[in-house]
Amino acid sequence: MYRSHNNGELRLEHEGMEVLLSGWVQKVRDKGFMVWVDLRDRYGITQLIFDGERTDSEIVDKARSLGREFVIQIKGKVIEREAKNDQMPTGNIEILVSELNILNEAKVPPFTIENETDGGDELRMKYRYLDIRRKPVRDNLIFRSNVTMEVRNYLSKEGFIDVETPYLIKSTPEGARDFVVPSRMNEGQFYALPQSPQTFKQLLMVGGLDKYFQIVKCFRDEDLRADRQPEFTQIDCEMAFVEQEDILNTFEGLVRHLLKEINGVKVADFPRMSYEEAIKTYGNDKPDIRFDMKFGELNNLAQGKGFGVFDSQELVVGIAVPGCSEFSRKQLDQIIDFVKTPQVGAKGLVWVKCNKDGSFKSSVDKFFDQEQLKSWSEELGASAGDLLLVMAGEADKTRTQLSTLRMEMAEQLGLRKPDEFAPLWVVDFPLLEWDEDTKRYHAMHHPFTSPKPEDLELLDTNPGKVRANAYDMVLNGNEIGGGSIRIFDKETQSRMFDLLGFSKEEAQEQFGFLMNAFEYGAPPHGGLAFGLDRLVAIMGGQETIRDFIAFPKNNSGRDVMIEAPSMIDEDQLKELHLKLNLK
Ligand code: AMO
Repeated sequence: MYRSHNNGELRLEHEGMEVLLSGWVQKVRDKGFMVWVDLRDRYGITQLIFDGERTDSEIVDKARSLGREFVIQIKGKVIEREAKNDQMPTGNIEILVSELNILNEAKVPPFTIENETDGGDELRMKYRYLDIRRKPVRDNLIFRSNVTMEVRNYLSKEGFIDVETPYLIKSTPEGARDFVVPSRMNEGQFYALPQSPQTFKQLLMVGGLDKYFQIVKCFRDEDLRADRQPEFTQIDCEMAFVEQEDILNTFEGLVRHLLKEINGVKVADFPRMSYEEAIKTYGNDKPDIRFDMKFGELNNLAQGKGFGVFDSQELVVGIAVPGCSEFSRKQLDQIIDFVKTPQVGAKGLVWVKCNKDGSFKSSVDKFFDQEQLKSWSEELGASAGDLLLVMAGEADKTRTQLSTLRMEMAEQLGLRKPDEFAPLWVVDFPLLEWDEDTKRYHAMHHPFTSPKPEDLELLDTNPGKVRANAYDMVLNGNEIGGGSIRIFDKETQSRMFDLLGFSKEEAQEQFGFLMNAFEYGAPPHGGLAFGLDRLVAIMGGQETIRDFIAFPKNNSGRDVMIEAPSMIDEDQLKELHLKLNLK
């Protein structure tokens, strides 16, 4: 037997008990006649005492020789500590050791295994197993496990069944590049790893399973960011005989359940906002609505007054930043510098201070009088003491720029509170998106998304205006999930492929299996997928998903611990009928 207790559970009430503990040596403190060792495991830290008077001197010497991260087992008695530590759950006791058994030695770790470590990112990733011994990383993984357990609880109670779908498939066009796998048995042919189980879950609905879910790995060969990994996990779901409203209600229920069970937060409101409104009011389709700073359009109020920078522009738009009217010149310059960075890419901005005495001071006082500035402040819903920030230019671009500025200001003002949760649905996405490069339409969500019946007529006349039965769930400014009601008849599906520029043959070749299935009694169906990594990170009050993945990839898509990707040897290549053509 290695242990009678773990290192997080002993308290004063255990005083006098003989215990067996095992774990890693966190720290050794040698005070000459006494040695203290902090013993760590997943559950916590317990202090061991080796006392020259009460412990065998050989054992005290052995304790002295322990290095950090040695794996040991001890036997000892729980005693009350003299110097108590109320920061630690086990801080009232220590173990007077009578036996010490070194189970394994350890090299000196390349970084400190403490809450705050001295190891840089790359080093920690190379030795991820040591990083995982650190409490913050371990806590994140436990947190993730708790979330997935609750997801399973909720969905299985709602009658969803967990079905596994294959990882070696044919590519599905979801926008990103596929990772491909060569087939040994089928010369010259490749599998693709799924970007999502989209077509399979639809086939499960044709198969009559009615409610499906899967916590599933997805693979996308795309550029990486803090909220993107090449392999990530979805909570993938699909339901038959449902309308959009049924799906929104079901999964709103899931997120309410998770926030309640995991974060202890009751979500009062779950607003629904159209894509158009989100873009107009927040400049993007994943608004953070924990704070206001809604966009106000000033074209009517600010154009034609002799200020050339505004006059010729498609859009003049601004926000009121709360409580910042007393910003110094330097602070204002910093904001201007920020919008000029390549990340934002604006030429500049106009500011207006709504002074507390009701007067206004602006960077454009030469062109606009007090009455005019007042009308701007009213349009932007400002109060005395606020600072207006106004940008002008081509509409889409300017909205995106102002939206980045809005988030930056919120960040600076501490309005993005990690323990506050403001979910919403963004609905009525456009079905199609025009791509200037290829001069054709792309599906904004994916090609299986159904157009809104009331917009069907526009498909021939003005396809760009057709709205989809598609929705995203947004949490604190992040897209945590998305889905749609699907097309379920062959005709509409093949019309959709037409619109997307597929020839009949291409559509048949790539999606014949799905369209054939639609000819054998496909039920109306729809679904969605949550990004589990993102959901967990945000619920955990963070936005970098890497911290919630046990073995993540770095920004170049590499696993620096196992050193993947890597070359394979000649024989392996030959077996796969591959020849490299490297420059
Ligand atoms: P979508 O492509 O919107 O939909 O993906 C669903 C959710 O997955 C998350 N996500 C990612 N997370 C981490 N790294 C990535 N590279 C990454 N890409 C996406 C996002 C996103 O909201 N089959 C459809 C769903 C459906 O229609 O039912 C799909 O995959 O949080």
